[in-house]
Amino acid sequence: MIRTALTSLLGIEHPVCSAGMARVAQAELAVAVSAAGGLGCLGGASFMPDDLRAQIEKIKAGTDKPYAVNLLLPDSLTTEDEAQWAPVRRLLDELPAAERAKLTDGIEAFLTPGVTARQVEIVLDAAPKAVVLTFGTPEWFVRACHERGIVVIALVGSVGKAKAAAAAGVDVVVAQGTEGGGHTGHVSTMALVPAVLDAVDIPVLAAGGIADGRGLAASLGLGASGVWVGTRFVATPEAYGHQAFKNRVVAGRFQDTTITYSYSGKRMRAFSNDWTARWEGSEQQPQAFPAQYALAGARVETGYQDGDTATGMMPVGHTTQLVHDIRPAGEIVTSMVAQAESILAGLSPQS
Ligand SMILES: Cc1cc2nc3c(=O)[nH]c(=O)nc-3n(C[C@H](O)[C@H](O)[C@H](O)COP(=O)(O)O)c2cc1C
Repeated sequence: MIRTALTSLLGIEHPVCSAGMARVAQAELAVAVSAAGGLGCLGGASFMPDDLRAQIEKIKAGTDKPYAVNLLLPDSLTTEDEAQWAPVRRLLDELPAAERAKLTDGIEAFLTPGVTARQVEIVLDAAPKAVVLTFGTPEWFVRACHERGIVVIALVGSVGKAKAAAAAGVDVVVAQGTEGGGHTGHVSTMALVPAVLDAVDIPVLAAGGIADGRGLAASLGLGASGVWVGTRFVATPEAYGHQAFKNRVVAGRFQDTTITYSYSGKRMRAFSNDWTARWEGSEQQPQAFPAQYALAGARVETGYQDGDTATGMMPVGHTTQLVHDIRPAGEIVTSMVAQAESILAGLSPQS
């Protein structure tokens, strides 16, 4: 048993959280991780309101253990100012019909004004054990969570963002190093985690580059209260996504990932392919979030739904090099903990 500030705060068995990956982390993955004693997180941000409610219901039906929901609450998504949504509408109107057709069926959440406000209502009403915020920590939302007993966790990629999150009242920060898949900063996990621990007085989780018990043990050694893991959980039967995408994660090497702004206009680590190459050195500058998603959203589905790994847009981290198989998510949690326990026991002077 590894007991930390995180396991006590959330009432979970293991200090292992699965990341709230938009589209990929649906109810099935969250249930598998939570049922195994970790904290499963639903990638809530990409769901239209009715689907978000249904996903949360599915988690509750699947496990009575604590779970979390990820939301993105930047001003550019929460605003209802029509003028700010104009670039999104224009880009959607200009999309070729085949691309536009992929952005329906409940996956247009980032592109529809008013959806984020509905997501907020649904999540506050459901009161999961924790909400995980990316792209900012509005104080009104942190307060609303605390009034309902919801723990607030924030993902950060810098010391400055960690301090801002702590000042906004969040309970836990996840320090995500540049190795991580998805949106990511400039600093490695190894340097970022201790720097964030020095800067804030709340529990810190490590993220980015962690795929097994060695990563968990190292993170605890740095002083983290647990780990937040994305890429490793993509290669599971429970993750949403085409088999070809999961196989790509299993076959991937460090050099197959790149930094791109082509998904959201924000800095992201993803598989390098024809789509990301098209934006490198291109005269067409990426749009701001969420307008860029009007261009990239269909590409995301090309990767996740169709399994076209050459032209799809697929976030992934450096641990693609460390992932060698597709394994049930629960097994990943338990083997990660068992390996970390044995490493930590080996370090102890009594052993
Ligand atoms: C496919 C994929 C999708 C992601 N989507 C999100 C997301 O919607 N929200 C979020 O906060 N983080 C997202 N991330 C980042 C993760 O939350 C996490 O910080 C990261 O995966 C940790 O690094 P790792 O990939 O090395 O484990 C995503 C990561 C991946 C690989």
